[in-house]
Amino acid sequence: MRQQVLNKELIFSDEKSNLFSKVESLGLLNKMFGGIQIDVNAALKKNNNELFEAHMCDHNCTIKWNGVETGGNYDCPAAFSQNLGINKKTIATGELIVKAVEKVANSIKDLKHDFILNKLDSYGKEFNVPAQVLEVYKDFIDCDDIEVALFGGSPEIHSDILWMIEELKSKGYIVTVTMTGRRLMLQPSFVEKLMENPPHVIALSADDFDGIEQIEHISNLSLEEIKAEWAKIPKQFGQRQKAYEAIYTIKLREQYGDRYPKLLLNIALHDQNLVNVSEFITRLSKCLPDVALNPFPVQSGFMYSPSPLSIEGIEYLNNFVDEIIESHFIEETKNNKYSAIVPRLHYWLMLKSALVRWRDTNKASDVISGDGFWRCYQGIGSGRYIQITSSDIVDNNQKVGGGCLSCFWNKSVADSRGKVWDLSKDDVTSYILTERESEIQKASMPCPGCAFPRLVFDVISGEVGLDKSLLDDYLKLRKKYVGY
Ligand SMILES: C[S@@+](CC[C@H](N)C(=O)[O-])C[C@H]1O[C@@H](n2cnc3c(N)ncnc32)[C@H](O)[C@@H]1O
Ligand code: SF4
Ligand code: SF4
Repeated sequence: MRQQVLNKELIFSDEKSNLFSKVESLGLLNKMFGGIQIDVNAALKKNNNELFEAHMCDHNCTIKWNGVETGGNYDCPAAFSQNLGINKKTIATGELIVKAVEKVANSIKDLKHDFILNKLDSYGKEFNVPAQVLEVYKDFIDCDDIEVALFGGSPEIHSDILWMIEELKSKGYIVTVTMTGRRLMLQPSFVEKLMENPPHVIALSADDFDGIEQIEHISNLSLEEIKAEWAKIPKQFGQRQKAYEAIYTIKLREQYGDRYPKLLLNIALHDQNLVNVSEFITRLSKCLPDVALNPFPVQSGFMYSPSPLSIEGIEYLNNFVDEIIESHFIEETKNNKYSAIVPRLHYWLMLKSALVRWRDTNKASDVISGDGFWRCYQGIGSGRYIQITSSDIVDNNQKVGGGCLSCFWNKSVADSRGKVWDLSKDDVTSYILTERESEIQKASMPCPGCAFPRLVFDVISGEVGLDKSLLDDYLKLRKKYVGY
């Protein structure tokens, strides 16, 4: 089944161009140095006469609602039940959001030069990366392309979303919109306008199905039938609603053909879908062809909560991780049942290192859910997918939410110097280089970590940010699979 393995001999005796295509096919790096994830729906809410920042979303993805189980399998900080009283009028305008992106992008470009010139070699030494391979890594990151992920509760409900996509594309960014698809389902005029100048990628989520058969069932429905079934889902079942909305949005592609953007499906893995995860993934890719799949374990460390993954769930995940690692080396797509999964060998090796290190202990599930896995603020080179979102800073004079260099999931890395559109380029650069680490030193509860694939980013960011307790096992795995 395994057709050709990139063994040690192969990788070191190869021409540079061959090495390049292997690193690319294993998904170790992208042709970019950094990315920007911006929460476009951060806003303010009043509580006891104080102004707090919050997230605006029209969904409720939580495990419980008023103490009663919702059927959902994770908690999201943007769920509307967690953000009651939010004032929509305090969402930043598209203009401010584009300004924030530009500020961070300029700093990323500066940092790129500095990193390649002054830091890449020491990274290579610390993590035993051979010189030939490091040269190839350099070719990947020595690139000014920047991906901008429009993110946050539900970016499609921002009133300037179409303008932002157009503006950012015209400035040369690669634009991904992570959305639920609800607006596309409910407002045909929005779809028409979106298709006049679509983003490069639409990322959707499919975290909740009532068994594998349901994937087939929804995929075989007409658009109208999907809408009719969706309308019967109780509003507290945010994850279930999203699965219908996502399939609707994917099926809409039939009406637009090649004009439609690329599609990516995020899939949070939890006890329910891990039981038969292999069939779940293969059925998804069969029912929804030409959709890239991005599975990752449910996260809870960022909110200091224990993992919802059980020991059994971890066992299923362990087998799945092994299979995905192997699948990176299958050359023929038709022989690879996981060919739809975005390749990211380093990410799966990192997960495997945690599963090896903490095997048969309760700690395994917490680490896999982020606590003690990887940290964006651990060393230079890590956390190059920079986030702009809300902070926990209470400021009763502020008029607009968001715009802070921080993290959507955990605010302990928030830049206390204010909103990014008011900072200088040097301020932004120093945040990424040093301030983020200083902020965390001051934090009473530093973020324990996460395993969100987009944030873990490439092999360099992954290795630098990997928890030190996992490094030995990780390096052994890397040697076994990649040869160094
Ligand atoms: C925060 S949402 C924002 C975009 C959009 N509202 C959506 O749900 O796709 C982005 C992704 O985060 C995932 N997510 C939310 N909370 C999570 C958690 N606790 N663990 C893992 N994934 C989570 C969602 O499934 C979704 O794929
Ligand atoms: S739709 Fe997305 S942002 Fe909104 S609550 Fe669900 S996961 Fe969070
Ligand atoms: S490790 Fe960094 S990116 Fe991940 S949740 Fe924590 S603060 Fe956010």
